[in-house]
Amino acid sequence: MSDRENFPANPLRAGLSGERVPPPCAMVIFGASGDLTKRKLIPSLYSLARDRLLPSSFSVVGVARRDIGNDAFRDQMRQSCDEFARRRPVEEALWKSFSQGLFYSAGTFEDPKTYERLKKLLAELDDQRGTHGNRVFYLSTPPSEYAVIIRQLGAAGLINRDKGGPFTRVIIEKPFGRDLASAQALNREVHETLREDQTYRIDHYLGKETVQNILVFRFANALWEPLWNGKYVDHVQLTVAESIGVEGRGGYYETAGVVRDMVQNHMFQFLCLMAMEPPVAFEADAVRDEKLKVLRSLRPLPEKPKELSELVVRGQYGPGSVAGQARIGYREENGVKPDSNVETYVAMKLHIDNWRWAGVPFYLRAGKSLPKRVTEIAIHFKKAPHTLFPSTDRLASEPNVLSIRIQPDEGIALKFFSKVPGPTMDVLPVPMEFRYGTSFGAEPPEAYERLVLDCLLGDGTLFTRGDEVEASWRYIDRIEEAWAAAPEPAFPNYAAGSWGPAAADELLECDGRSWRRL
Ligand code: BG6
Repeated sequence: MSDRENFPANPLRAGLSGERVPPPCAMVIFGASGDLTKRKLIPSLYSLARDRLLPSSFSVVGVARRDIGNDAFRDQMRQSCDEFARRRPVEEALWKSFSQGLFYSAGTFEDPKTYERLKKLLAELDDQRGTHGNRVFYLSTPPSEYAVIIRQLGAAGLINRDKGGPFTRVIIEKPFGRDLASAQALNREVHETLREDQTYRIDHYLGKETVQNILVFRFANALWEPLWNGKYVDHVQLTVAESIGVEGRGGYYETAGVVRDMVQNHMFQFLCLMAMEPPVAFEADAVRDEKLKVLRSLRPLPEKPKELSELVVRGQYGPGSVAGQARIGYREENGVKPDSNVETYVAMKLHIDNWRWAGVPFYLRAGKSLPKRVTEIAIHFKKAPHTLFPSTDRLASEPNVLSIRIQPDEGIALKFFSKVPGPTMDVLPVPMEFRYGTSFGAEPPEAYERLVLDCLLGDGTLFTRGDEVEASWRYIDRIEEAWAAAPEPAFPNYAAGSWGPAAADELLECDGRSWRRL
């Protein structure tokens, strides 16, 4: 990892805003035997090494319960890269230098001795590998361990809270709390030991190229801003459709449901980027201040279950088939209670009560075991104020739509009316499209690559701040509380492979609208 000369510079960055190479540092991953480390973290670090974006002096220490040595850890991480690295096969020379920087330290997260051993190892790495006392701690453990690890790191003297001198940063995985009270409690624990600007709450959607591009699309082009408000926008639809089910994570999903798993974090984050005011600068607090304002402008949901059900619809998949493959229902999944009422689908209508968005409904839907994997934001513009061509009136239900496709087939499309060739003035909607793959030809980096790199550089812009997390839980709590007080839902209410429950369609139909067919 220290041998940067052997590898060519990343051609994608040539001519752009210079390479961003972070200072020397050691990164400690708590939960090193977990799935995230294997599938995302180590493969992302390897890709950063390939692109020569890691510091010249860098080391990774994996911490987990299992008693294995450095060699076994390196072998396991090699297998991870063989299976999950973005660019394969793994390059032997690069792997050799990268893997020399991988270390393992066994221990339980509650035991102070784990941190004594870690401290000793990190001091040795400072001497031998020149990591200069700079540390990033990555908490990739069950959420119940976050507070204890941060406390123990503090007690062991492993956190430098002072500005100046070596830096300490802590990355905390989602979920950050499971309601407002637990998120507030965790924020209090965090702030006992860390400054807010040392705390990196990760939401991997913010690392996706297309999500970041929402900001560029909106704020690097003057064209859209005059249209980006209730004067021209009729409504907005946000969709996160997943074709997968719970993929063996039934036990976790039983404690979450789609609202906690997808809406509170990922969907609200890109809703904020889509709806926020221009920030004063592309800097952490400037961007986060504007996102927070959106969350604080969300119109509170009604408390009564009956009234809430007119705005929020929940669903759970039963048996069915996705892409021709038979699927079991959610209640049959491993780790799921046979009478579970946990939702795997939600559709909701919300309002952002501010000047820009007054009167514009935002419709959100997210679900598992749907027919396709599609994440997109669609901005439906109002129709032209006066009809000149009779056929546009007939097509009034297909207005101008700007769709930002987050995944897959990343791109942006604008639907507008065009004259049909021929002797009449008939019009039909046609698309104008930009596709990442065609325009840039390069595969986008994995979200974790960007986010880990930003943390190594001390840039928190694409991470969520404590007050944002609390504001989104404040909104979500209403839903969870109303559902807890409501009569049992009639689950399952949609078949795997369908587009969700009928009530989700009615949510839009009663406003004279319909979901986009994706
Ligand atoms: C995770 C959720 O945060 O995001 C999963 O816990 C979900 O349930 C996943 O499947 C979706 O991420 P992506 O990047 O595949 O869209």
